[in-house]
Amino acid sequence: MIIAIDGPAASGKGTLAQRIAGHFGYVWLDTGLLYRAVARDVLAAGADLENEAEGARAAAALDAASLGDPALRSTAIGEAASVVAKHPSVRAALLDFQRNFARTPPGAVLDGRDIGTVICPDADVKIFVMADVEVRARRRFEEYVRRGENVTFEEVLDVIRQRDARDASRSAAPLQQAPDAVLLDTTEMDIEAAFEAALAIVSYVTTRRSAPR
Ligand code: CDP
Repeated sequence: MIIAIDGPAASGKGTLAQRIAGHFGYVWLDTGLLYRAVARDVLAAGADLENEAEGARAAAALDAASLGDPALRSTAIGEAASVVAKHPSVRAALLDFQRNFARTPPGAVLDGRDIGTVICPDADVKIFVMADVEVRARRRFEEYVRRGENVTFEEVLDVIRQRDARDASRSAAPLQQAPDAVLLDTTEMDIEAAFEAALAIVSYVTTRRSAPR
């Protein structure tokens, strides 16, 4: 079973994906961490984020054991990640790792931008998580405050707008809803309500698929 969860920055897809994976006993991969780790490694090597060859080299050498690094969660690394993520050869270097992970039995939940469109076009369930940009910025801002990061709401809103624009306009695997994905708008939902709604989608899609025609 493969469950693909895509959506824009701070839409809550990571929290949802983790909860869904826990509920079904599946493994979970936050694919944003891969791009964040590549950005971290490019910066650590003193290279330019715009340099595609450097990005591809870092992606090919990526150590999956380093994905738990708390530094990956910062605003600056999120911003840097969306720069390296536009390079096709960076994306290509991360493809096999994601596809192999998706095949983990008995099931896997992957969240990102292009899971339902590029990484796992045959996923059993595809959910596209959305929320108004102000609501997403508010959630991300509160997360940063809890972690003691020194940012204002306006800065967070600004960064999210820029990141959405970059992710949606790039030519390689842009952020977009797969035609067969179910849209989940969490603007008016807390995490509990969003989780219940996501479970209802999984149940609806899997029952419909297994029903005799
Ligand atoms: O958690 P948040 O939504 O803020 O970001 P993330 O999922 O960690 O992703 C960071 C950046 O990596 C995004 O802005 C994308 O540019 C890129 N990314 C991507 O291109 N494809 C993915 N499957 C996941 C992330």
